[in-house]
Amino acid sequence: MIQQTLLLIKPNATKKNNIGAILKMVERNNFVIEKLKMMKMDEPLAEKFYAEHFGRDFYPFLLEFMLSGKIVAVLLSRENAIPKLRELVGNTDFEKANLGTIRSLYADSYRENSVHASDSPESAKREISLIFS
Ligand code: CMP
Repeated sequence: MIQQTLLLIKPNATKKNNIGAILKMVERNNFVIEKLKMMKMDEPLAEKFYAEHFGRDFYPFLLEFMLSGKIVAVLLSRENAIPKLRELVGNTDFEKANLGTIRSLYADSYRENSVHASDSPESAKREISLIFS
C-alpha cells in the first residue's frame, strides 16, 4: 500500500549542512519527495506538533531545540512509507540506532537526533496537516 509520511530534518542537521546527505538517503531508498519546505517552527506549532510529550521532563528542552534553528519538512510517499522511513531513520536513541541509519550517521545526542519520522498512520495524517495545510 502506498503511504505518505512526514520527515523533519532537525536544527542540528540543517546547521551542519546535512540536508542533502539525508535527502539522498531518502531518495535512494525509493521514497518520492512530494512536498518540501525549509522553515522555522514557532512556539504554537511546536507545542501542537509535540503535544503528546507535554509534561515529560524532556519536553521544554525538546521545544527549545526545535525552535533553535531552521528545519526542513518533507512529505514523502512510497510503499509502506511509514514503517520503511522509521527503519531508515533508526532508533530514537542514536546509540541504539542500527549502523547506516540516518540517526546513526547524523544524530548528535538523544535530543539532537537529526530527524523526526511519523510513527503511525494517525500521526502521519496529523503531522502532515499541521505542517503542510
Ligand atoms: P522525535 O522522533 O522528534 O520525537 C520526540 C522527540 O523527543 C524525540 O525525537 C527526541 O528528540 C526527544 N526525546 C524523546 N525522549 C527523550 C528523552 N528521554 N530525552 C531527551 N529527548 C527525548
